[in-house]
Amino acid sequence: MSDVLILAIESSCDETAASVIKNGREVLSNVISSQIDLHTLYGGVVPEIASRKHIEKIDQVVNHAVSEAGVTFDDITAIAVTYGPGLVGALLVGVSYAKSLAWALKKPLVGVHHIEGHICANYIENRELEPPFMCLVVSGGHSHLVKVVDYGEYEILGRTRDDAAGEAFDKVARAIGLGYPGGPKIDKVSYEGDPCAIEFPRAKVADNEYDFSFSGLKSAVLNYLNSMEMKGQEVVQADVAASFQQAVVDVLVGHSMIALKEYGFDRFAIAGGVASNTHLRKAFEDECAKKGITFYRPSPIYCTDNAAMIGVAGYYEYIKGVRSGWDLNAVPNLKLGER
Ligand code: KG4
Ligand code: ZN
Repeated sequence: MSDVLILAIESSCDETAASVIKNGREVLSNVISSQIDLHTLYGGVVPEIASRKHIEKIDQVVNHAVSEAGVTFDDITAIAVTYGPGLVGALLVGVSYAKSLAWALKKPLVGVHHIEGHICANYIENRELEPPFMCLVVSGGHSHLVKVVDYGEYEILGRTRDDAAGEAFDKVARAIGLGYPGGPKIDKVSYEGDPCAIEFPRAKVADNEYDFSFSGLKSAVLNYLNSMEMKGQEVVQADVAASFQQAVVDVLVGHSMIALKEYGFDRFAIAGGVASNTHLRKAFEDECAKKGITFYRPSPIYCTDNAAMIGVAGYYEYIKGVRSGWDLNAVPNLKLGER
């Protein structure tokens, strides 16, 4: 059988990315043009600016990915593109570009779910990993505890009821003056703080032990900051960061471990931007080692948004026979497991 080369495009938020993936698992190129510096000026992602930047960058990024892979557009088997969830204007840039390219090259088009991409990032560096396994997806927009039943087949056990884990990191970072992007900054400054300095709540959701809720934790941090200000006491930024982060880590690890035991999985993976958090990775490493569970985590570059993960997901959809039509549209609130 000849090689399957997927050219993948990702533009759901503030990264314009393209990648060429060979036979589902081998990354021939992984080009990411980040807009972080631009959005830092505004303290968060400005959707309108993100869309405009994608338009400027996408052609360059795609051409770069193809040339870096050492292939030509003719060699490409199919084009995969993220069509949701994400910012609608940002998604539309990738979707429109991918549709035009696929039409011009007469190649099949495969629409990919962004969260499925995050999960599939685990296949890149772990050739032996195959479903079924359990995966915790923690990103800026999502916190999902997922049973990966098969390629492209998912069962969501738990999800956030309010803020996503990454969103909580970003909001708390802003409140304590660390700015955007919050996750990596809290991760770093926490090494100088005491994670037990402040006792923040570890929320449980009454009717589903696998669901998450982070808005109460965020409010607790804000209340703490207010009360310290009212008392005229000094806030130790690193202690707040470390204590907040510890609360998030405890909840993510706690819920995952209960689910792993309940469902009897001995393989566990994490995915999404928050999965690059060094404290979270360490906590899972320790906990999984204690319980005899094999723990998978993508390298940080495959945790945050990238197109390689979309290429991997696109490959498995492609070999299953999934094809998108020329009417493929951006679906900002696309649910996992839906097409
Ligand atoms: O997966 P991702 O790149 O984009 C979405 O699909 O949302 O995730 C971005 C999120 C942001 O909220 C960012 O603050 C968080 O991931 N993040 C982190 C770290 N690196 C990125 N959160 C905690 N620790 C990190 N090291
Ligand atoms: Zn993402």
